[in-house]
Amino acid sequence: MAKDTLTLTDNRTGKTYEVPIKDGTIRAMDLRQIKLHDNDFGLMAYDPAFTNTASTTSRITFIDGDKGILRYRGYPIEQLAEESHYLETAYLLIHGELPTRPPLHEFTHNITMHTLVHENIREFIDSFRYDAHPMGILVSTVAALATFYPDATNVGDPDSRRLQMHRLIAKIPTLAAYAYRHRRGLPYVYPDNDLAYSGNFLSMMFKMTEVKYRPNPVVQKALDVLFILHADHEQNCSANAMRSVGSSRVDPYSATAAACAALFGPLHGGANEQCVRMLQEIGSVAAIPSYLQRVKAGAVRLMGFGHRIYKNYDPRAKVIKKLAYEVFDAVGKNPLIDVAVELEKIALEDSYFVERKLYPNVDFYSGIIYQAMGLPMDMFPVLFAIGRMSGWLAQWEEMLVDSEQRIARPRQVYLGSGERSYVHLSERG
Ligand code: ACO
Repeated sequence: MAKDTLTLTDNRTGKTYEVPIKDGTIRAMDLRQIKLHDNDFGLMAYDPAFTNTASTTSRITFIDGDKGILRYRGYPIEQLAEESHYLETAYLLIHGELPTRPPLHEFTHNITMHTLVHENIREFIDSFRYDAHPMGILVSTVAALATFYPDATNVGDPDSRRLQMHRLIAKIPTLAAYAYRHRRGLPYVYPDNDLAYSGNFLSMMFKMTEVKYRPNPVVQKALDVLFILHADHEQNCSANAMRSVGSSRVDPYSATAAACAALFGPLHGGANEQCVRMLQEIGSVAAIPSYLQRVKAGAVRLMGFGHRIYKNYDPRAKVIKKLAYEVFDAVGKNPLIDVAVELEKIALEDSYFVERKLYPNVDFYSGIIYQAMGLPMDMFPVLFAIGRMSGWLAQWEEMLVDSEQRIARPRQVYLGSGERSYVHLSERG
């Protein structure tokens, strides 16, 4: 009769072990009983880069990479992008359910009331070099927030956790916009709490001398959808950083700074910037075939293509491609879209990409939209971080309340030298 177990035979000893299978996994600790002798440490699983290791159970985000499915708390991303707005989606990710009107109103009020940052933070941003990368400023200022909220160390208190979450979701657009304005040498714009979340961000970014900034409704809506699409993506590099650093029970500002730092990398949140640079380098439809030759020769990667999880079209890329044309209708076309669409078409018919199941990911089209909105390339990962904040916080809290979680501490397979005696400098050949 079928059983939910796995039988393993250790051919070194001839012994057989039976380990339970639950939710499609075996427990790595069940391997530890497999030993050569009593003093043996026991068998471990070796999995650099966590390619086949579940580090947690989660109820937040579901991805089926083969089918191209992404759901937050069970709701398909396409429906959320179409029907929801960012703060409602943030509430959903954190609380697990779509809110009714009163809690949504309260949540929105709480976020809106925390958009200001301490004036010292503004001065702190002033002290960065004029050309500092805004993501570097963001990483530092998010970490600096910890020094303003010493109560945030109380991570075991649900009320304190909620308060820090409101602060972080509220303040990250302000920090992001200040980083941008510093770079441009423009005066900082204080939050306008009459505006919606993404509209306020646009105001803090682009307001000049006008008394009141009125965001373009198409751009405001598109930005809001982009925040939704980026809000969570289960155990990716930055969520893993958030959980891992947060598992030491550090305050959420420090953990979020680590997550932002992870997102800064070109293989993660930096990919959309790299993607636009790549499209600019290609420059024209005619130059695509020769560029793809270089990709296939391993000289360069096709940025915005490929994904560890999606072996099918990234559902976010589909929504973003459609969104691109709506934004272009409102603010003018970004000519790079022609290169991108043709590049995608040629790549998806090429056996190199087909065999490796490499499809456009979320970053392939997002940068082109950001650019059309007037956002400079080095702000792209910063925008990603604004959207992802709610997901990081949901992941962080889920980790903290999970009784199975402890401080994250991976094992290693040591392959270095055995014990040897120190040799004085004068005696080393
Ligand atoms: N261009 C060309 N070849 C690629 C690409 C690419 N973008 N991505 C993967 N491949 C190839 C690899 O060379 C490898 O080929 P091989 O088997 O002949 O050696 C094969 O596909 C598998 O690639 P891996 O690097 O093992 O895939 P992995 O899952 O580790 O990497 C990653 C995923 C990092 C996203 C990768 O596809 C990549 O570098 N893409 C470009 C950067 C990018 O767009 N990142 C954004 C990801 S989405 C996000 O973070 C929001």
